[in-house]
Amino acid sequence: MSDETRITAYRDGPLVVRGPFRLEDQDGGEIDPGREVVALCRCGRSRIRPFCDGSHKLVRFSAPSTREDRRIAARPAD
Ligand code: FES
Repeated sequence: MSDETRITAYRDGPLVVRGPFRLEDQDGGEIDPGREVVALCRCGRSRIRPFCDGSHKLVRFSAPSTREDRRIAARPAD
């Protein structure tokens, strides 16, 4: 296994983290993932956050695998 950490954004799904990492809460407390590869929820509907439990499928979460660009076009001046 590589020493490089890789985070993959899956289309309509979680962020999967592979490689060495430490997962913490905002106070620095370690969150033990219990495994080497983890899927982190990005739909917000998991019952085991921060981990994905597959709920993104039930709620039909939609997000691209690539960077999302939702910038709003500037309105023309009056
Ligand atoms: S991304 Fe899978 S439950 Fe949220």
